[in-house]
Amino acid sequence: MDKLKITGKTALHGSINIPGAKNAALPIMVASLLSENGLLLKNLPVLQDISTMKLLLESFRIKIKHINSQTFFNSSNIKNHIANYDLVRKMRASILVLGPLIARFKRAKISLPGGCAIGTRPIDIHLTGLEKLGVTFSTENGFIFGEVKKNLVGAIINLSFPSVGATENIMMAASLAEGKTIITNAAREPEIEDLAKCLNNMGAKIAGAGTAQMRIEGVKSLIKTDHSIISDRIVAGTYVIAAIMLNNKFKISNIDPKLLSTPLKVLQNMGAKLDIGNDYITVLPSNTIKGTTLETKPYPGFPTDLQAQIMALMSIAKGQSQIKEKIFENRFMHVSELNRLGANITIKNDTAYIEGEQKLKGAQVMASDLRASVSLVLAGLCAEGETTINRVYHLDRGYEKIEEILGKCGCKITRIK
Ligand code: UD1
Repeated sequence: MDKLKITGKTALHGSINIPGAKNAALPIMVASLLSENGLLLKNLPVLQDISTMKLLLESFRIKIKHINSQTFFNSSNIKNHIANYDLVRKMRASILVLGPLIARFKRAKISLPGGCAIGTRPIDIHLTGLEKLGVTFSTENGFIFGEVKKNLVGAIINLSFPSVGATENIMMAASLAEGKTIITNAAREPEIEDLAKCLNNMGAKIAGAGTAQMRIEGVKSLIKTDHSIISDRIVAGTYVIAAIMLNNKFKISNIDPKLLSTPLKVLQNMGAKLDIGNDYITVLPSNTIKGTTLETKPYPGFPTDLQAQIMALMSIAKGQSQIKEKIFENRFMHVSELNRLGANITIKNDTAYIEGEQKLKGAQVMASDLRASVSLVLAGLCAEGETTINRVYHLDRGYEKIEEILGKCGCKITRIK
């Protein structure tokens, strides 16, 4: 298994161009299942999760072709409606194929999903929503089997929690249902707006994406289109935090800062100096970074996907900090590893208490999930001496060539195969 070796306390300089968002790309790739006419995607990031999704789609006989930097998905000839354990266990987002497969072929069989081991991550909200559209489910041998006798029929669906994946699954299925669907308490993440934009270009009729109430008028079929994936706000936020931790001037380009309003406000209140443009954020050196208290929340709240990274920053900030994790139980697996690097963090229930001004020192650490891994990279970059991060395959699921990018910007970071 690959490892990363980091020599800390080097400078971070120059700039980085933010790639396409993994969390937008995954559902939009799945949307190709909804049309027999093909979908051309631009700005797909080069990540392990994207490769896994391609393999999953290919297992349904979707033909995927790379044309320069674009990718064409041809789903005119789908033969298989079974998503196998070997692919699904690697990535929780695999569950997104459930709604689209049933919408188009009236049935689907999917192994129960895997992905980051953060909390129990059930799929009840997906299933309840699809049931409202007329799907009946049964489970057997670790698989969920869903089918609809005639067509999906639009319904009013009130989500018990604004789950990102459930909103996406239901909106894709409802696009091909008979009549109107209203989703209330829908997730409002920018990636959902990007999916709706792509679906609407394919001929779907979705209104209200990005708000808590979405209205979807079902259509009979969808047409061919092309779509460019939005930039990754979580990757952008991660590099913003890295530059603040190293206290260097660093430009993060090709990102709409409005997508990061809440985290940027939190960072500015902590003392970070940011020059915020229309499509860039430049981190400027600051005198003092102070601790703070925050809660992770659904968008537009502070994203759980930046919780581990800001915790690394809080460990070296002045004073104490607290983070209440409200989205996922058990999303504090980075805490013991950050403590190995010299942080002083304790957990009580859903809250982490972080003592600031700790002198981080290099150590051997173990990555446990995607965002946990990158928080260890950030801490390693600020630690004195050498840090080795084991199990970096988690990192490869969400960060494109991180060692190359950081290496080019002055950091000492190498991959050991
Ligand atoms: C997506 C993101 C992930 C991010 C998360 C929250 C993708 C591919 N992944 O994950 O990076 O951390 O949103 O912003 O977009 N839940 C249920 N039942 C369900 C579905 C969810 O109880 O049927 C719970 C989950 O266990 C979790 C919470 O709802 O506690 C949020 O999950 P959800 O919004 O569905 O996250 P994902 O779509 O899996």
